[in-house]
Amino acid sequence: MTQTRIAIIGGSGIYDIDGLEDAAWQQVETPWGAPSDHILTGRLEGVGMAFLPRHGRGHVHAPGSVPYRANIDALKRLGVTDVISVSACGSFREAMAPGDFVIVDQFIDRTVGRAASFFGPGCVAHVSMAHPTCPRLGDACENAARDAGIPVHRGGTYLAMEGPQFSTLAESRMYREAWGADVIGMTAMPEAKLAREAELCYATVAMITDYDSWHPDHGAVDITQIVATLTGNADKGRGLVARLPALLGTDRAPCPHGCDRALDHAILTAPG
Ligand code: ADE
Repeated sequence: MTQTRIAIIGGSGIYDIDGLEDAAWQQVETPWGAPSDHILTGRLEGVGMAFLPRHGRGHVHAPGSVPYRANIDALKRLGVTDVISVSACGSFREAMAPGDFVIVDQFIDRTVGRAASFFGPGCVAHVSMAHPTCPRLGDACENAARDAGIPVHRGGTYLAMEGPQFSTLAESRMYREAWGADVIGMTAMPEAKLAREAELCYATVAMITDYDSWHPDHGAVDITQIVATLTGNADKGRGLVARLPALLGTDRAPCPHGCDRALDHAILTAPG
């Protein structure tokens, strides 16, 4: 039996976690360079925790220049088993209102030019991304959110855009009407792909801040509106995180969905 270690990758508005015992910010080196920041480790209710602010403390990394490979590799090196990625998102659905959380289960990747794999020349691997998030972690996030009184939606498709500019009205309408996306953000890709390659269970919690630009009654999204909603969302996000250790427990059986064995049949290169 493995010991659980939960990582929280905090998005805009979340820069630490409350109540950690033995808390220490650790510098972790990786072959992919430095992660976004030092990583805050400690224990919550006896469960190992690691917290990484995706944009760095002080919000210094733009979505396109977050060191995604170093971040996932650093978490793996720290013995992380489960990654909960929290990110501020726009909504394409009336019912997914600002202040609500969505436990995302699918992605459409529209990012460009980001290093999106640990594999390459010399070792070729193709992991499955058909089911990119871990339902066991999704259950824990949903239960934690309900318990914390957060309005939560289970399931949704996250459109990962390159940014840093927001979408045009035509893009917003296309993602919503033709592509069936439910939420939009700038950071869950390639993070989700890399977590799968690293054989880590992964779930994304989208904290809704706005209706992007499609909604006739809400006008175009701007950062002032996002920051105003973020402050309330961040408190809710902390409430969700605080409940995860009790739900996931200290001992970690093999993932029933196989996330921790994703490479078993993925590597094509002959052993050297
Ligand atoms: N993050 C928060 N709101 C967003 C939006 N509307 N588009 C992209 N990323 C976002």
